[in-house]
Formats: sequence, C-alpha cells, structure tokens
Amino acid sequence: MISYTTMSFTNEHVEAAARLFSRNYRAARQMVSSMPACYENHERIVPLLNDMIKRSPAIVALQDGEIVGYLGGHVLREWRGRRTAYAPFWAHAADEEDPDQIYRLLYACLASQWIANGCFQHLVTALAHDTGAREALSWMGFGMVVVDTMRDMTRLHTPANEIRIKQADMNDIETIEKLDNKLATYLAGPPVFLPLIEKRGKQYHEEWLTKPYHALWLASRDGETVAYLKMCPLDADYLVTDEKTIWIQGAYTKKHARGQGIGTALVDHAIAWAQGQGFKRCAVDFESDNALACRLWLKHFRPICYSFARRVDPRIAWAYAGREDKHFWS
Ligand SMILES: CC(C)(COP(=O)(O)OP(=O)(O)OC[C@H]1O[C@@H](n2cnc3c(N)ncnc32)[C@H](O)[C@@H]1OP(=O)(O)O)[C@@H](O)C(=O)NCCC(=O)NCCS
Repeated sequence: MISYTTMSFTNEHVEAAARLFSRNYRAARQMVSSMPACYENHERIVPLLNDMIKRSPAIVALQDGEIVGYLGGHVLREWRGRRTAYAPFWAHAADEEDPDQIYRLLYACLASQWIANGCFQHLVTALAHDTGAREALSWMGFGMVVVDTMRDMTRLHTPANEIRIKQADMNDIETIEKLDNKLATYLAGPPVFLPLIEKRGKQYHEEWLTKPYHALWLASRDGETVAYLKMCPLDADYLVTDEKTIWIQGAYTKKHARGQGIGTALVDHAIAWAQGQGFKRCAVDFESDNALACRLWLKHFRPICYSFARRVDPRIAWAYAGREDKHFWS
C-alpha cells in the first residue's frame, strides 16, 4: 500500500491542485465533447481554489512531496433542509492511480472539520467519467442524489404531431403557475419526495420571465395546454457551465399526455431558440431517483456529473470520540 501524507491546503498548493483537476477534466471532456473547454485550462480553476481556501478548510494529499489529491468545499446554509458541506466538481481531485485510498484519506481528515462547523450532511459533485471518485464516495457511504447532463445544440428532429408550441409571455402567467405547481407537486410525491414548502406565486413567474435569456415554452393540443419547459443561463458553481451554456430549469407534461413525444418536442424547440441566441450547449440536472426525468434526459443528454450525499448521525455532536467519562451521566 502506498503511503501518503496529508496537510492543510495552502496557497503554495493551488497551482498543482488546479493542474491535477484540469488533467482530470480533460479526460472527462474526451468522453463528452460538448462540455465547456475552459476548465481544461488550470488557470480557470486557480481563482476558485484561492477563494475556497480563504473561506473554508481544505486538505491536500502528498506522495514524496507531490500533490496527488485535494478536497475542499464550502458551507451551504441549507440543502434539503440541512446545513451542508458541499464540494463542487472543481473542489476535489485525486491521482487516477489510487483514487480510493486518496479520497478516503482526504475525507477522513476533512469530515471532522465539516462536522465541527455543524455540517452533518456532506455533498460532493464528481465528474461523471471519474469512476475512481464515484467508487470511493460510494464505499464511504455516499449515495447518488443528482445527475447533471449536457448536450450540444444539434436538433432532435422529433415529429410532434398536432402539437402547438409557443413562447410564453405575461398573458400566460396563470397557466405557467398551474404547470409549475404541478411539477412541484409531482416532485414532492414518491419516489422523489422533494418537500413542497412554498408554492411559487405569480410575482415569481413574472419576474422570472423578464430576465435576460429566460424563456418558457408551452405546448398545447386540442386547445389544452399540456406541457411546459423553461430555460435560462445559470450562474452557479454546482454545475459545469460557462457563459455559452443554457440550462433547462424545469419541464412538465400532464400525466395523460406523457410518452407521446411532447417533452422531446419542447426540448427540440428550446434548443433551436437557444442556438439562435448564441448558446453552444444545453445542460439539465435532475434527481437521480426521478425515473421519468431519467427516461427523457438520458436519451438526449450525456451525464457530466453525479452528486453524492452522506448524512452523519448528528448525535456525534455530543457522543464524540474524545467524550470524557464525566459526561456519560444520564
Ligand atoms: C419528464 C417529462 C417532462 C417527459 O415528458 P414527455 O412529454 O412524457 O416526454 P416524451 O413523450 O418525449 O417522452 C420521453 C420518454 O419517456 C417515456 N415516457 C414518458 N412518460 C411515460 C409514461 N407515463 N409511461 C411510459 N413511458 C413514458 C417516453 O416513452 C419516452 O421514452 P422513449 O422515447 O424511449 O419511448 C414527463 O414525464 C413529466 O412531466 N414528468 C414529471 C415531471 C418531471 O419529472 N419533470 C422533469 C424534472 S427535471
């Protein structure tokens, strides 16, 4: 077994860590060429890592003084109802020779700091091609929760007979609100169980529609609106994107109209529009337990990242390893 040392991630490690990530990303992009090229350049990662180590703890693994892995992240005040430590796709990497050992070592070092900061839920997004990271996460008790996918702008060319698709405007707010609530209700049901805490009202949808490059399409048949799909640019580090990526934020087809190509026709329509606006790629993310979403998206999009979550028993806050005998009273 190879022996590694670990230490806190500091400024002097940034350059080598960024290079390690970019090498890994290049391998990922060979599998899915539609992924943005920018992350192949380690200089794109350097500011992200600099910012990360300023804000939160991170660990590097070394072998003979060379960086073979790193893991960091930041706190999400709330993810699925809990304070969460989150490592985005760029916040970790390991040498491809021994990812299992390296990730185990890094996580064992960092997890206690995440716990000390009140994060009993840990979330890691890994590049989809990175089977080493995925295996290591799975062995460490993480389970898949979200899939990020991407495609280029080639058309799907699907016949959607008798379907009318139109871009929504302010006159459609009521229809949008109804369909959006149906999507939220669907996601709150089995097996996805995403809690429906608050319904989004008219004001939310009005504001959403007025933002640049925000577009929503409605599909109707025989005078009934049966489906919608909405897309917008995404400014977030949880998904591999750049300024040329448009993101599908939501889609819903009423139950009686499903499985007839309406969702696919909406995707095709939306992609044609986005291409006209200068976008080069389209992304969509979805819960891995949403079978209907898997059927639609995995047919036309390629997985680029998987996110894995782990919950630590919160009783560890008081029943910790160094708990003294005098605290065992009841
Ligand atoms: C995902 C969703 C929008 C797809 O819309 P759709 O209009 O059914 O899409 P399509 O007809 O183009 O179908 C896509 C695939 O799913 C299959 N499918 C969809 N609904 C199905 C159903 N009820 N039974 C069997 N197959 C179904 C289709 O057959 C098709 O697969 P195929 O091409 O291999 O035959 C729709 O299923 C839906 O609204 N689901 C609930 C909300 C949701 O999960 N939204 C996505 C959130 S990210």
